Amino acid sequence: MSEKLNLPIRPRRNRKNEAVRGLVRETVLHPADLIQPLFLHEAPQDDPIVSMPGQRRWSLEGLVGEVEAAWSAGVRAVVFFPKIEDALKNPCAEECHNPDGLVPRAIRAVKAACPGMAVITDVALDPYNSDGHDGIVERTSSGDLRILNDETVAALCRQALCHAAAGADIVAPSDMMDGRVGQIRAALDANGHEEVSILSYAAKYASAYYGPFRGALDSAPKAGDKKTYQMDPANRREALREAELDVAEGADMLMVKPAGPYLDIVRALREAFDLPLAAYQVSGEYLMIKSAAKDGWIDEEKVVLESLLGIKRAGADMILTYFAKEVAGRLPL
Ligand code: PBG
Repeated sequence: MSEKLNLPIRPRRNRKNEAVRGLVRETVLHPADLIQPLFLHEAPQDDPIVSMPGQRRWSLEGLVGEVEAAWSAGVRAVVFFPKIEDALKNPCAEECHNPDGLVPRAIRAVKAACPGMAVITDVALDPYNSDGHDGIVERTSSGDLRILNDETVAALCRQALCHAAAGADIVAPSDMMDGRVGQIRAALDANGHEEVSILSYAAKYASAYYGPFRGALDSAPKAGDKKTYQMDPANRREALREAELDVAEGADMLMVKPAGPYLDIVRALREAFDLPLAAYQVSGEYLMIKSAAKDGWIDEEKVVLESLLGIKRAGADMILTYFAKEVAGRLPL
């Protein structure tokens, strides 16, 4: 038998039972922290997404039903990602601001059925652009691709106005063009949409974790990659610079994306800025958990909660996650 240690400080006392652990718990997830991304398409049926098991591309009717189910589970915000038919795509992505397009119709349908749900829309050209890029593409004489920043920003402004006119609460530019937050703010204000918020993807990395999402929307770039606008995964200071500009241009909320592999960036932005901060647990993060759980190697419910708790602990106020509805239903309101 060993001697009792002379140990006046024993951190384990604060972990001795669930009630005490509850008292000292520093981070708590709430359903209201979670934002549910939803895919939609122009079809009467709801199709399972092969690259994202458990997710569907919803018809408008299916979408409304899913939003109502998310609401019942405690989710209070959704973000839409449309799959646009190839026939409607062109190099200038003009369908992105069609007032009768899929997204504006979805906004109106969801707002009519579930007015309390905050509707967030993604502002970027890739679903509408025949080149599959977030910006308008020009081919140089040598055959290289150039993404036209300022022309793209003008299109993004039209897209944001179209979403605002349809009733979006928050527009979320995910394109990473320079100057788009300021221009979108000015366009919204000039058209009577002062109340529409901007959630800026301030630090969006050129990440391989977006693979399953591009599979869901068939939105992968036709040529080249997104490295001239999305950020280099190696950079942290650059994220602060991007966020600083977005704050100065009038962003209401900032976002870091992806979330899990970029928790240091979440923490850095949390410490440097006062604005509410979102983090996006992206499709690859989702699929990795789903795949490992399918083979029984991890407990899906527990790993999902732990992954989200980690993101919140790093400093995110809100989390975009494909697990939102399911997790919200398991959390106390
Ligand atoms: C496109 C967009 C992407 C995602 C959200 N908006 C893909 C990309 O930038 O290529 C990815 C989300 C995910 O992987 O879950 N503007």
